[in-house]
Amino acid sequence: MIIKKTPISVSKYLNSETKKLKKKIAFIPTMGALHDGHLSLVKKAKKKGYFTIVSIYVNPSQFAPNEDFSKYPRSLKSDLKKLRMISADLVFTPLHKHMFEYESPKYTFKTFGIEKKLCGKSRPYHFLGVSDIVLKFLSIIKPNVAYFGEKDYQQFFFIKTVVEQTQLKTKIVMAKTVRDINGLALSSRNNYLSKEQSRVAKNIYKSLKILKKIIKNGEDASKALNQQKNFLLNEGFTKIEYLEIRTQDLKKSILPHHRSRIFIAAKIENIRLIDNLLI
Ligand code: PAF
Repeated sequence: MIIKKTPISVSKYLNSETKKLKKKIAFIPTMGALHDGHLSLVKKAKKKGYFTIVSIYVNPSQFAPNEDFSKYPRSLKSDLKKLRMISADLVFTPLHKHMFEYESPKYTFKTFGIEKKLCGKSRPYHFLGVSDIVLKFLSIIKPNVAYFGEKDYQQFFFIKTVVEQTQLKTKIVMAKTVRDINGLALSSRNNYLSKEQSRVAKNIYKSLKILKKIIKNGEDASKALNQQKNFLLNEGFTKIEYLEIRTQDLKKSILPHHRSRIFIAAKIENIRLIDNLLI
């Protein structure tokens, strides 16, 4: 497994080696603290025969000042071990100064109001911070395909929309959410949960599944959403930031909510969890 630390060394390597290898490139951007969800993306890319590149970089520009940037879990040594075990081909671990100094082409794109809905409402700069860094990575690596997890559906959808508005040729692909045995979507932020909080957290998936069933039966969705909000608060969540049904392109969903998604962000104290489920 090759490890590169600067944008220049990655581009140089890819220019000389991947042409010789005659392989297409798959890219998996991560912020480290890797779990089976990340590893499933790597395995998927490897299975398809791609030269598989993983970036590990905790991107400051997607965190607001009051958020968890400084305490975000960092575990480079064990991340590299996990990636070696599944034969990732190259890991890119830049420092902040490398990413700040790297000047990518200026991309202009419309955000289509991502900053005003769902996660964007409480994190208005988050998705712009994400797209800024992902576009930098894409312009350095020029992958044929980049994988994003379904748990962060809003991120996947936004990056896909942004990339479609640029000259970049990368195909943006979504891969299924990986859950633990209790149904909790794997997330690096699950590391913050105590045992008791994990017990509370698993109710998110329980609620999503109940809602899916009710909505599919054509019952009153807004009543069911309220019931599930109350259920989650009773179970120990301290705040439900949103629990909403939206179309696949994040617009307000109208009846019968066919092929829409249920989206949730909920907090246990200051730990914020998100999830979503296709109806
Ligand atoms: O999903 C994440 O871990 C991050 O938002 C990403 C895509 C690596 C960009 O920093």
